Amino acid sequence: MRFGIKTLDDVDVRGKTVLCRIDINQPVDRKTGCLKDTTRIKACLPTLRELIDKRCRLVLLAHQGSDIEYKNFYSTEPHATVLAECLGQDVTFVEDVCGPTARAAITALRDGEVLLLDNVRFISEEQTLFELKLKLTHAQQAETLVVRKLAPLADLYVCDAFAAAHRDQPSLCGFEQVLPSAMGRLFEEEFCVISGLMESPERPCVFVLGGAKIGDAFMMLQTVLKGGIADQVLAGGLVGEVLLWALGEDIGEPARAFIRKQGYEELVDDGREILASYPGKILLPVDFGFVKDGVRHESAVGALPEGELVVDIGSETAAQFAETIRAAKTVFVNGPMGVFEQAESEQGTQVLWEALGDTSAYTVIGGGDSIAATNKYGMGDAISYICTGGGALIRFLSGEELPVVKALRHGASIAHNLTRA
Ligand code: 3PG
Repeated sequence: MRFGIKTLDDVDVRGKTVLCRIDINQPVDRKTGCLKDTTRIKACLPTLRELIDKRCRLVLLAHQGSDIEYKNFYSTEPHATVLAECLGQDVTFVEDVCGPTARAAITALRDGEVLLLDNVRFISEEQTLFELKLKLTHAQQAETLVVRKLAPLADLYVCDAFAAAHRDQPSLCGFEQVLPSAMGRLFEEEFCVISGLMESPERPCVFVLGGAKIGDAFMMLQTVLKGGIADQVLAGGLVGEVLLWALGEDIGEPARAFIRKQGYEELVDDGREILASYPGKILLPVDFGFVKDGVRHESAVGALPEGELVVDIGSETAAQFAETIRAAKTVFVNGPMGVFEQAESEQGTQVLWEALGDTSAYTVIGGGDSIAATNKYGMGDAISYICTGGGALIRFLSGEELPVVKALRHGASIAHNLTRA
């Protein structure tokens, strides 16, 4: 047991039918239908190999995209092809989650064989809007279709989806109620590495916040400053812009309109409070990058030409942030500094990632965009720890007990009466 959760060392898996929930959610190329990145698939291979070596009949449950992220909301069929290549063995795929086809395929599995079910979020009760609207308890999740149909066919539930641990959905939190459960090796590693770092980070500990999805980042900002975990916060991307707005700086109408459109305007008040409560702790941009007629320009904060949209931090800011990173002993990074996908607006992100490569600090990055930036700059080996979780990592760093952690802990504390179908 680690942190009150069973690991694969605490359960007898040999020859068992195991339902294993993984997070292999990856960007999909719309034209070819192929996966654009396979980082998360590779990350869960140790768990899968261990279960296969122990002759489990392995049933994989996974989501791809979501009802609130439609551009990647697809079948998991391409993932089966990649999994088969990585594992060097067949991976059966069925276009079903818990209907008769899926159940027949599970029953037909033999020792050491692997089956991947279709995108669990094709079932409404697994969808994020359903989760947010209905807020089912974990006991209620055990009564949902996916759990009622699949649990009787299995001996054990293993969750290796740390990247989805902030989700309160039946395939993540319902099975622990009715089946013996454990976390997989990737979940164990990510959860324990991050928990350990949070307990006693080497000082100075610096948090770099950026990106465009910033609601959770603000929650985390408060916790890490209040708890004294962060010695310094470097705020780029939209986080920096909202905080500058809170200080009364002019970030330009296009940026303000974007922040309003994303529903982040209320964060401006939160930002004002945070800045007043923790003076000197948050380093903000002193200059911006913007693109005019396809060419990059820079301006000091307060001197942004009217009508221009901020797309990056400026060179002076990037240099200050990089210096802080080089002097740190622990660095957490969530989110790029600007639109790093385009050449004119990648400079800030690139300079910071180079500093992450140079620093002697223990560096942790998480989240799809940060992983994509790491891959773009070929920095995979230079970062001390790459966490597959984005939203999950932020929620965890916010001090929240993640729903899946809660479900696994509860699962470890109860005895299950198994009646196999
Ligand atoms: C992620 O990409 O962060 C995880 O797969 C969770 O996806 P979600 O935010 O759509 O639940």
